[in-house]
Amino acid sequence: MNIIFATSNLNKLKEIENLIPKDINLNNLKDLNFNEEIPENEKTIEGNAIYKAKFIHTKFNVNVFADDTGLEVEALNGEPGVYSARYAGKECNSHKNIEKLLKNLINNKNRRARFKTIIALILNGKLYQFEGIVNGLISHSSKGNKGFGYDPVFVPEGYSKSFSELSLYEKNKISHRSIAVKKLISFISKQLN
Ligand code: IMP
Repeated sequence: MNIIFATSNLNKLKEIENLIPKDINLNNLKDLNFNEEIPENEKTIEGNAIYKAKFIHTKFNVNVFADDTGLEVEALNGEPGVYSARYAGKECNSHKNIEKLLKNLINNKNRRARFKTIIALILNGKLYQFEGIVNGLISHSSKGNKGFGYDPVFVPEGYSKSFSELSLYEKNKISHRSIAVKKLISFISKQLN
């Protein structure tokens, strides 16, 4: 089966490619010669994932899935959430986003947070959703150099290392995205049999 992952984020592609079985032929937006950014203007993580999948389905009439992820920090009432990518403003990057997060949590003892991924799949014209959540704590400073985004300050529950200190293999065993992807793969595999 051919399926498009509606992303141009190479980090996400690398994570997901390792999980997809060989009978699913995974392509991405570059394979469609689509090099634009799909707008992410919805107010929820679910909304953004669905918007991205529908956008590509409408344009190319292909089987497609899209993901959207947010970091939800308990002491910040779920922020940055759907705004995780642009938390520090328009000209932000991961470094600035982390800086703002640590500043907003300074002296705060409650470091509880979770990553939430929603995958929206459009298969044969029908929409399906899959969720993946990983709980953890926000550290007081960045640690490690692997991964991307908020990985250097996210310490998953039961671990003492941040996501950035774990190998891709270790992150994939427990991450929000891998939980959602495994649900997606199990669903698609049932459709193939
Ligand atoms: P996106 O909209 O799914 O690309 O995710 C929004 C933002 O969440 C990204 O720009 C990253 O900052 C952050 N993010 C998403 N997934 C991860 C992850 O696996 N680790 C760390 N940060 C992530």
